[in-house]
Parts: sequence; C-alpha cells; structure tokens
Amino acid sequence: MNLPPVPSLCEDLAGTIALHLVAEREYDGWMSGQSAEIRVWLQRSAFRPDCGRWVLLPGIDGPAAVLVGTGRTPLDSRGLLWLAAGLADRLPPGGYALARESGEDRDRLFATGWAMGSYRFTRYRSAAPAADKEPAMARLQLPRTVRLGDVAAAWSACTLARDLINTPANDLGPQELEAAARALAARHGGDTMIVREARLVAEYPLVAAVGQGSSRSPRMIELRFARPGAPRLALVGKGVCFDTGGLDIKASAGMALMKKDMGGAACVMALTEQLRLLDVPVDLRVLIPAVENAVDGNAFRPGDVWRSRKGLSVEITNTDAEGRLVLADALQAAGEDEPDLLIDFATLTGAARVALGPELPPVYGGDAAMVADLVQTAMAEADPLWPMPLWEGYEDELSSRIADLNNAPSGGMAGSVTAALFLRRFVAKPDKWLHLDVYGWNGKDRPGRPAGAEAQGVRAVCAWLRRRYS
Ligand code: BES
Ligand code: MN
Ligand code: ZN
Repeated sequence: MNLPPVPSLCEDLAGTIALHLVAEREYDGWMSGQSAEIRVWLQRSAFRPDCGRWVLLPGIDGPAAVLVGTGRTPLDSRGLLWLAAGLADRLPPGGYALARESGEDRDRLFATGWAMGSYRFTRYRSAAPAADKEPAMARLQLPRTVRLGDVAAAWSACTLARDLINTPANDLGPQELEAAARALAARHGGDTMIVREARLVAEYPLVAAVGQGSSRSPRMIELRFARPGAPRLALVGKGVCFDTGGLDIKASAGMALMKKDMGGAACVMALTEQLRLLDVPVDLRVLIPAVENAVDGNAFRPGDVWRSRKGLSVEITNTDAEGRLVLADALQAAGEDEPDLLIDFATLTGAARVALGPELPPVYGGDAAMVADLVQTAMAEADPLWPMPLWEGYEDELSSRIADLNNAPSGGMAGSVTAALFLRRFVAKPDKWLHLDVYGWNGKDRPGRPAGAEAQGVRAVCAWLRRRYS
C-alpha cells in the first residue's frame, strides 16, 4: 500500500529553519545562550514566551530560526497538537525542523498537528492552484523519532472524513457515499456488498423506512476486510446524507448543517483507512446504512409502527430520530456475526452537543473499564472523548403504548443517554460495544481545525485498537 503524501511534511529537507520550543521558565536560560544581536532583537520585538507566540530570528540571508513560546504550564497533548497546527498554518513558506526532539509520542503529535494545519477544503473553489506547482507552505522535516507512516495514516484518515462531511448533500447522496466506500475497499483489498430495494425492505426494514421518502434510494453498504484468525471488529456508521427531520421537519437553523449527518459513516471509513494503512491486525466488517431523511408523499410518518430486523417493533414518535432507527438494524446485523468488538459512530443527538459541547464526544459502552481505557488513550492522543452512562433509570423512557419501544422519548431529557439506551436494545453483547455520539463539525475557525467538518474519535479509537491488538 502506497503511503498517501502529507503535503506539509518532508523526510529530507535541505537548509531548514530551526524551531525552538521554549517554556516560560526556560526562557531566561535560553536567552543567555544567544548572541547580543538576538537578545536585542527579542527585546525590541517585545517577545514573550506565551503559549503559541512565536518570532522569527534573523540570519544572514533570511530567517535562521523560530522561537516558539509554550507558556507557563507544560504542554499537554492537545496543547502540543494545536500549537503545531498553528505554526504550520501561519509561518512563512519554507522548511522547518524541531531544534530538539522530545520522544516518539510527542514528536508524532507535533508532526500530526503540523499536517492538520495544512488542511483546506478546496473542491468548490474555482481558482484552483496550478496542479504542477506545489503550493507554497511551511513544511516540517519529519522528526527522526517519528515514522512517516504513522502521520500519513492519521492525515489520510482525517482528510477522508473531513472531505466527505464537507461535501454538500447535492454531491453526496447514498449513491455517492457508496462510491466512496467502494473506492476505500478497492484501495485496501476489501469486498463491497450493497443491499437495496426489495432486499433492503426485507433485511433492513428500518433503513428502508427512513429512506423511503427520498428519490435517492437508501441502501446498506457493507465492507469486509477478511483476516482469518485476527480479532473480529465490526464498525457501524450513521450514513444519513441529509437530515431534514422528515415529516417532523427541522426548522431552518436546525437543518443548516445537516449535510454532516453522515459524519458517523465518514468516521468509520476514516478509521478503516487508518487501520488498513497501519496494518492493524483485525478481521474487519464495516456497515453503513446510507439514507436521506427527506419529505415526500411516501415518507415514513409519526405514529407509524415498523418492525426492525431484530423483530422488535418500533413506534415512530418523531421522524427526526432517524439515526437510531437505521443504526438499530445495522447493529443487529453486526451482532449476528458475533464480533469480538462492535463500535459505532453517529451524529446521533443534538443533546450530546448540549451536554459536552462540540469538541468532546460522549462515548458509551457496557464495559465501564473498557470505556475508561479508551478515554485515557483518547486524551493522550488529543482526540478527546468523555464517558457517559447507560443509565438504567431512563430505560422506561423507551416504552411505547402499542409497540415494543418508541424512537423519541417525549420528555426530552438526557437525549444522548436515551438514544444510547435505544441502540443498546439492538446490541447482542453490550459489554463488547462502544458507541460514540459525535458532532462531526468545528463551529469555530482555528488553525488545523477550520470551520467545517471534523473527524472525531478516529485517531483515538485507532490508537487504542492498535495497542489492544498488536
Ligand atoms: N442528526 C440529528 C442529531 C444532531 C443534531 C446532531 C444537531 C448534531 C447536531 C438527529 O437525527 C436528530 O435530529 N436527533 C433529534 C432526536 C430527537 C428528535 C429525539 C435531536 O437530537 O433533537
Ligand atoms: Mn434527525
Ligand atoms: Zn440525524
């Protein structure tokens, strides 16, 4: 497998500009080792080693070095990753190298952040840069401690997810999502299976019901990357290419970003990309229910009762709670294979964002120790997740007067928790299951995290699986 290139990273750069990362308490010592000219330069520039501040230091024929402040407290993983992104985003074009390497993990985070700093979504820009000319950018010499493959895999995964999520629904319906999944499988020697039309109605009735109001036909996308003997991993991703809310239609503010409602699918595809590039030994199955939740005369309705693949009947109390419906059938199908581990990603609830905000996705699972272990890795990877409870006390919210359960509890309390409890009804082995309720989006424009799509939990879960299985 060829490594995808990372535009802002290089293995052999000539004549690099040294990057000196200096903490506040190191600053005086560092200064005392410099020439009088440099000391004067820093004084006249009123430089202070606050976190993220930097200054170019002059050489004979251009900048010789960059001094980067890291502030008062030691940088944690997040601080380091986004500091690097900010440098890549803002330093003048040229080649840069860390003056002091600080070990594989931290240097890898730095290089990863640097890579992220160069992400741009350019698909719809008319003035594309000439294809033969490399865009001028700040490039980092890969630290010797870091394997290029590690950064390239994270970069490739992240950009795949972001590009898919950023692509508007007119260019990314169920069919185009299928094409992207096929391409992913083809790149990595996997098999693709698609279930549509009458077979979809028979085998994945809830997926068919949610998708029946759209002229773009719903489908179940399944990828398999067989590896006999390896731990069996199943991934499920919510692939709602656009969520109008259905007949319980969303107001315009709520609908504005709903091209991102296939963010879970994008994340599991990105995770697949990263796992395959790193050759993590898993026997992998990926299930993506791909639908558009649209409005027309054939749309499913509030009050409908639909029987799921598992046999449980579901009363539709809100057509806008469509994600849990399509996931229910996918989770059931995944469980029929008895995987060692089942992980789903979904832009499932607005309540998750209300609880923890846009950059800290809740993670649920029946095995609290496993969830805690994942969260620890996630924090170390600067791809944070936060543990949330499958609170038994709210189980009764799922009851229905006429069916086995309802899809949208009326109280509206703990919406992310009750959605996770709904999913659990369709998971064969809840203690071998993880559920990530991701937002998939950056509201603010920040270096390395431009406003728009975000791949959440992908690097975290990949690093955790890699440690667990190799
Ligand atoms: N796709 C949305 C959830 C969502 C909204 C994620 C905004 C991120 C940002 C999902 O299909 C939905 O509409 N959920 C409803 C469920 C409710 C009707 C029980 C919600 O969260 O309001
Ligand atoms: Mn919805
Ligand atoms: Zn949705």
